[in-house]
Parts: sequence; structure tokens; C-alpha cells
Amino acid sequence: MLRTHQLVKRFGALVATDHVSLELRAGEIHALIGPNGAGKSTLIHLLSGTMPADAGAIHLDGHEVTRETAHQRVAAGLSRSYQITNIFNTLTVFDNLLLAVQSHAGSSFRFWQARSRDVALTDAARELAQACAIDSGLWQQTAGTLPHGEQRKVEFALALAAQPRVLLLDEPMAGMGPDETLRLTELIESMRGSMTILLVEHDMQAVFRLADRISVLVYGRLIATGTPEEIRANADVRQAYLGEEAPC
Ligand SMILES: Nc1ncnc2c1ncn2[C@@H]1O[C@H](COP(=O)(O)OP(=O)(O)O)[C@@H](O)[C@H]1O
Ligand SMILES: [Mg+2]
Repeated sequence: MLRTHQLVKRFGALVATDHVSLELRAGEIHALIGPNGAGKSTLIHLLSGTMPADAGAIHLDGHEVTRETAHQRVAAGLSRSYQITNIFNTLTVFDNLLLAVQSHAGSSFRFWQARSRDVALTDAARELAQACAIDSGLWQQTAGTLPHGEQRKVEFALALAAQPRVLLLDEPMAGMGPDETLRLTELIESMRGSMTILLVEHDMQAVFRLADRISVLVYGRLIATGTPEEIRANADVRQAYLGEEAPC
């Protein structure tokens, strides 16, 4: 579904992405782990198109997107939930969702009568809020006043509004308490199979519960890809994590 070939990104002398060839299979949850500074966020930026690659190629479902803009990639089915919030703080939660649904609806709603179009958009926004387990008591609340964990769910919902085939998540659990982490883990779990997910996450409990496969990045290089069991048993991975929280 998503494939990189010998992808390279340099920051001056630093090779943040060092000839990475990564393959995401359709419908899998693929976790990307690695010590701080390994290049995980950089790789997400290259995939989403918010940073250009210096060399190599990216294919989405067989179609090359290496030189496409972030916007074109979203239209092609690649969506990213941002670490930095892209919520409109002064709008209500529901209006945020409505706006997102509307902006991605495009031609599928164009020929509808105005009233039925509004109903369809409202239904889609409601479904999205329910799918992301956003408490209906919060729908009319101003998004900027939500607790951190609830804002994350809204961000997640905004990414899903694009109906992506591939969803890129960069540390969705960062800053969350244990209850919120568990709820978000269940939410991601519930999406297994319906889309392809690349999950960058430090919470190893969440990673090992969710991932069908795991790739390990160290100093910009992919050192291993495998099932959770294979990664757990991999000597190179254990070595790379020496002195840091071990992944297993
Ligand atoms: N915009 C940038 N300019 C220069 N160096 C950067 C930039 N972004 C990231 N880096 C460097 O690239 C390396 C990888 O960073 P990053 O992708 O954020 O790692 P991770 O997400 O795995 O913690 C780090 O050494 C970081 O300091
Ligand atoms: Mg990062």
C-alpha cells in the first residue's frame, strides 16, 4: 500500500533518513520505533510530503508520490494526524468535524440539493465523532477548551475525515495519561483492517498490543522489520536500545 525505496533525507552532514526501504501492507498496523533522534518524525514528514526527500522514491498503492505535494497525497489517500494541533480552537468540536468532512467531501456531495447535502454532511460528522468515541456532551464545546486527551481524539477524527487509505500517526499517545492511552489504543485497534496505519509510538505496551509488524529505526537506518515476536527476539534491536528503555 505504501512503499519507500532507498529514501534519503539530510540535514547538513546529518543523514536523518539513511536509504530507508520500508513496506506497509494493505490493512496492517505497522509500528515504527527507535531511540530519540532516530529519524521517525523525519520519515513521517517525508511520507506525508511536508518535507522533500533528497533521494529515493515513495509509492502509494503503486503510484509514485515522491514529488507530489502534501495536499496531493491527501487527495490520493494518505492522511496524517498532526503532533501539532490543527484544530480550530474557537469553533465547536462538531463544527471542526463538519468543516473537515465538508472540505474532503468534494465531488461526492456536489450534486446534492442544499438541504439534503447539509443533512448528509451532519450525519457524516456525527458518525465520525461516534467512531472516535468523542463524548456527545462535548460536541458543542469550544474545541480549544477541551482536555488534552479529548483534543487528540478530535485531531484523530480530523485525519479520518479525509477517509484515508493510509494513516500516519506520530506519537498519538504523547502527553496522555494511562486511561486516555488505553482508550486511544482501543480506538486504533478498532480500525485494524479498514485502513493501513503507520504508528510511531514510544508507549511499548501500545506498540506491542497494536502492531502487526514493527520496524526499527536507529540513526536514520532501518535495522529490522518483523512481527512483534521477531523484534522482541532480535539481537540488533536489543543492542540498539541499550541504555534506553528497552522495547520489550
Ligand atoms: N528540521 C531539522 N533541521 C535539522 N536537523 C533536524 C531537523 N529535524 C530533525 N533533525 C535532526 O534529525 C534527527 C532525527 O530527528 P527526528 O526525525 O525528529 O527523530 P525522532 O522523531 O526519531 O526522535 C535528529 O538528530 C534531529 O536533531
Ligand atoms: Mg519524533
